[in-house]
Amino acid sequence: MNYNDLIKQIDKEDISNFNYLLKYKYKVDINNEVPKKIISNLKKIVIKARKIPVQYLVGNVDFYGYTYKVNKNVLIPRFETEELVENTIKLIKEKFNKKVSILDLCTGSGCIGITLKKEIAADVTLSDISRKALKVAKENSKNLNIKVIQSDLLKKINDKYDVIISNPPYISYNEEIMDIVKNNEPSIALYADNNGLYYYEEILRNISKNLNNEFLIAFEIGKKQKKDIMNIANKYLKNIKITCKKDMQNRDRMIFIMNK
Ligand SMILES: C[S@@+](CC[C@H](N)C(=O)[O-])C[C@H]1O[C@@H](n2cnc3c(N)ncnc32)[C@H](O)[C@@H]1O
Repeated sequence: MNYNDLIKQIDKEDISNFNYLLKYKYKVDINNEVPKKIISNLKKIVIKARKIPVQYLVGNVDFYGYTYKVNKNVLIPRFETEELVENTIKLIKEKFNKKVSILDLCTGSGCIGITLKKEIAADVTLSDISRKALKVAKENSKNLNIKVIQSDLLKKINDKYDVIISNPPYISYNEEIMDIVKNNEPSIALYADNNGLYYYEEILRNISKNLNNEFLIAFEIGKKQKKDIMNIANKYLKNIKITCKKDMQNRDRMIFIMNK
């Protein structure tokens, strides 16, 4: 059976998972015949992927043109985070005319820091509180000369950096999220106290000791958090310039804080 015949048998909602499975699990070239023994298996897994994210079933994720390992101990990187990386690269190129030092705080799979290391001249450190997440980050950053530190936010981070980037947990406990996310992704990667603002406040309260004079802080944020995070930044940091960027869906999803 060829791809076009097969796709007619797949429900619309399953098509992107179906394509992902063909590409990564079965490594089938869609221009060729799909072997019979794959077809029945594939249909079963497509049904399973309604309840378990296909990236966990396959064990990897596409991010910014690279493929990274993921498992149930790390968040599956989202498209908005690719936008955070893209905008941060632009700002680093504009602001720093040198090799930069970068800390990726709350790194999870390591996708942000590792991608930055692959895209620009940088010394990169990845940090997370979760030992299990750092195991994944270490595998993803193998042979890339990237430092990995287990730390509760900045507590065990002693160096200073040009750039600190983070996509911390920011979902408030009363926010409704999709069952497939709630039932599979680590809750330590999702939820935060204080209306989802806890991590931003903790990071910004302590961040000065880890910043060089010329600095850039880059955060992914929840779509209703812009004002609150700007206020928190102004509370703890002086002489700063704050900008907010919208994502492709026109939602305020990234905040950048720089020295003036
Ligand atoms: C939203 S996930 C982001 C993962 C990855 N950076 C990404 O963008 O896909 C948040 C991460 O923060 C980590 N985390 C939670 N509490 C932390 C803490 N107190 N200190 C450091 N990391 C923490 C979680 O383990 C999780 O990996």
